[in-house]
Order: sequence, then structure tokens, then C-alpha cells
Amino acid sequence: MKKIVLLMVVLFVGVVTAAVAVPSGRTLVFDKSPEGKVTFSGKIHKDAGLKCRDCHNKKVFPKMKKGTVKITMDAIYAGKYCGVCHNGKRAFEAKNNCKRCHVK
Ligand code: HEC
Ligand code: HEC
Ligand code: HEC
Repeated sequence: MKKIVLLMVVLFVGVVTAAVAVPSGRTLVFDKSPEGKVTFSGKIHKDAGLKCRDCHNKKVFPKMKKGTVKITMDAIYAGKYCGVCHNGKRAFEAKNNCKRCHVK
């Protein structure tokens, strides 16, 4: 019995720290572009003062799961997805700054 309780405590702590570890330290890699892979840093975006809801809302990235939207440059230039901010106003513009996102 004691062992089971201990195991449950360990599992619970594990789940809680995993949930907390998700936001800031998380890095997502988008590797489908011929232009080079794009590394999205949760930390850089958090340090820029953004809240989860700035991105995770119906209009931008509705789901907290990688791969639920298909990001294209046309969409970005049209002000969707990363382009909501990467338009030269809230953050650096996507046009002419390919290499700040894409690394070969
Ligand atoms: C600057 C934008 C931005 C901010 C701010 C942001 N996220 Fe995300 N997050 C994303 C993108 C983009 C994805 C991938 C979505 C997709 O592919 O559909 C994502 C995916 C995720 C995922 C899934 C990761 C995976 O491996 O599938 C989780 C969990 C998540 N975000 C949690 C959070 C939490 C919690 C916060 C706030 C602390 C947060 N995000 C803030 C942009 C952001
Ligand atoms: C809600 C606004 C917002 C969204 C959406 C957003 N970003 Fe950002 N991003 C920022 C801000 C603000 C910064 C920091 C200021 C700056 O570098 O212009 C930043 C910085 C970055 C940087 C750091 C660049 C450098 O040279 O330091 C990269 C790379 C980046 N974003 C990629 C992405 C990608 C890829 C997406 C889409 C998956 C995305 N961002 C979506 C606001 C956003
Ligand atoms: C703010 C970050 C960001 C910047 C800046 C950026 N891209 Fe992208 N780009 C992305 C993301 C994210 C994807 C999706 C990659 C994936 O799904 O694996 C993408 C996809 C692509 C694709 C494949 C999809 C499509 O639309 O054809 C090409 C080609 C591409 N980018 C070229 C460029 C070029 C050229 C530039 C500069 C003029 C540029 N990108 C600037 C983030 C960026």
C-alpha cells in the first residue's frame, strides 16, 4: 500500500512539473520548408511579454498541439499565424528576414 501511495505521489509530481514546463521552455521545430527549418522558441516569445492567449485563440493558433494548422508564407504575408505579429509592427517583418526564422 505504502509503495502504491508513493508511486502515485511521484506520478502526480511528474505530471504537474511537465504541465508547468510546457510554456516558457518549449521549442517547436517546423521542418517542412525547403527554405530551411524554423525553430519557434517559447522562451523568446514569453520574454517578449506575450501571453498564451495572444497566440492561442480562435484566430491565431486555436489548438495547443503542433501541426494543427498549415503555415504557409502566403498566410504569413496575409497577416495570419506568425504573420499576426511578424508584419514589421509588433515584431520583425517576415519579408526580407527569411533567415531570422529559416535556418539551413
Ligand atoms: C507567440 C505565439 C505563442 C505563444 C505566446 C504561446 N504559444 Fe503555444 N504554440 C504556438 C504555436 C505556433 C504552436 C503550434 C500550433 C500548431 O502547430 O497548430 C503552439 C503549440 C503549443 C503546445 C503544443 C506543443 C506540441 O508539442 O504539440 C502547447 C502545449 C502550448 N503551445 C502551450 C502554450 C502555453 C501554455 C502558452 C502560454 C504560457 C503558449 N503556448 C504561448 C505559439 C504560441
Ligand atoms: C503574438 C505575436 C507573435 C506571434 C503570433 C509570433 N511571434 Fe515571433 N516574435 C514576436 C515578438 C514580439 C518577438 C520579439 C521581438 C522581435 O524580434 O521582433 C518575436 C521573435 C521571434 C523570433 C526571434 C528572432 C530573433 O532574431 O531573435 C523568431 C525566430 C520568431 N519570433 C518566430 C516566430 C514564428 C515561426 C512564429 C509562428 C509559428 C511566430 N514567431 C509567431 C511575436 C510573435
Ligand atoms: C516569422 C518567421 C518566418 C519568416 C521571417 C519567414 N518564414 Fe517562411 N515559413 C515559416 C514557417 C513557420 C513555415 C512553415 C514551415 C513548416 O510547416 O514546416 C514557413 C514556410 C515557408 C515555405 C514553405 C511553405 C510555402 O509557403 O511555400 C517557404 C518556401 C518559405 N517559408 C520561404 C520563406 C522566405 C523566402 C522567407 C523570406 C522572404 C520566409 N520564408 C520568411 C516562418 C517564417
